[in-house]
Amino acid sequence: MSYNKNTPYNDLPQLPRGTIIETPEILRNLSKASRHLGELSGLCASLPDPRLLINTIVLQESKDSSAIENIVTTQDELYKAATGETTTNHAAKEVLSYREALYAGMETMQAKQNLLLTSTLIEIVQTIKQNNAGIRNSPGTALKNAITGETIYTPPCCEDILREKLAALEKFINDPDFSDLDPIIKMALIHYQFESIHPFADGNGRTGRILNGLYLVQQGLLPQPVLYLSSYIVKYKTEYYQLLRGVTEKDNWHDWVMFMITAVSETAQLTTQKIRKMLSLKDNMEGVIKNLLGSSFNYELFQLMFTIPYLKIELLEKKGVAHRQTASGWLKKLSDAGILKTQKMGRTTYYINHLLMDALLNP
Ligand SMILES: Nc1ncnc2c1ncn2[C@@H]1O[C@H](COP(=O)(O)OP(=O)(O)OP(=O)(O)O)[C@@H](O)[C@H]1O
Ligand SMILES: [Mg+2]
Repeated sequence: MSYNKNTPYNDLPQLPRGTIIETPEILRNLSKASRHLGELSGLCASLPDPRLLINTIVLQESKDSSAIENIVTTQDELYKAATGETTTNHAAKEVLSYREALYAGMETMQAKQNLLLTSTLIEIVQTIKQNNAGIRNSPGTALKNAITGETIYTPPCCEDILREKLAALEKFINDPDFSDLDPIIKMALIHYQFESIHPFADGNGRTGRILNGLYLVQQGLLPQPVLYLSSYIVKYKTEYYQLLRGVTEKDNWHDWVMFMITAVSETAQLTTQKIRKMLSLKDNMEGVIKNLLGSSFNYELFQLMFTIPYLKIELLEKKGVAHRQTASGWLKKLSDAGILKTQKMGRTTYYINHLLMDALLNP
């Protein structure tokens, strides 16, 4: 039966399929991507406290990944929400849920012998969406052109078929029988397959992007899911959509795989630059702050400034770093010296590590 974009694609073939022609172009770019990813991995592994810096990078990734679904929040809203303030900003909440889903996915993968299971993907989408919707069990889901309303793709239906396809994908991801393919190429295949199965009513893009990050960790290519891949996908969203279609309609794996290899390569470099810039800033600031605070310099506070770029007195208290008065004294000194910038919202004053924010946003 030939493919029809208007009817559920129940004939979606299992992976591996076709032959990925390892053209010189693919091989050349693959070796470049692996090298850049290796560099990023080494850098992450050498961080004394992995949560430091990585937390901010993961938050940026969450922001960009959510932006594809038009969940747009400002840096300000997001970072304020991230300090634990109960936020009424819906978009900021969704971004925080994405981050929570990524971390929860990591934990589950580790708890399940490093396997990436269908049940983990369901847990991820439920955390992203903050609901308990599972696999779709009614027809009607279709991808449409946002402007014309024209149907672009109708994924398979319904639950039994979706579960069957997910089980095959789960096997492809975890079974060592399929490990002769390069893991970056495999990630590209997995991402296409997951998006084409489109098992959920919503959140498939975000779950698929989390799956990319977790898969690289599973394969030992990164110690933490820090690759800032969604920024690349947001930037080239139109091409990304066209290439997914190209595989379905024309079996064009080559261009799809090239896109994903380039995405990994460029983003790995960008993420490495970011971490380097943050580390050198941290080095420079340590001396300056030690001078300023003298014997009251507190290393925990200093670390926190690089884990959570928006601080507030209550947070330092809550984290047990210092009592209110001490915390307030430090933050005041740091802001008087221009090291932190203050911003008032309602009754709360935020102390912003603006140089870190600059490094994050403009590497
Ligand atoms: N032609 C296509 N075939 C298969 N998958 C597609 C196609 N076009 C887009 N997609 C995928 O569908 C996702 C959108 O699906 P869905 O709305 O369920 O996910 P989301 O996480 O809510 O949204 P978004 O990905 O926009 O953030 C896209 O991100 C993309 O990965
Ligand atoms: Mg959606």
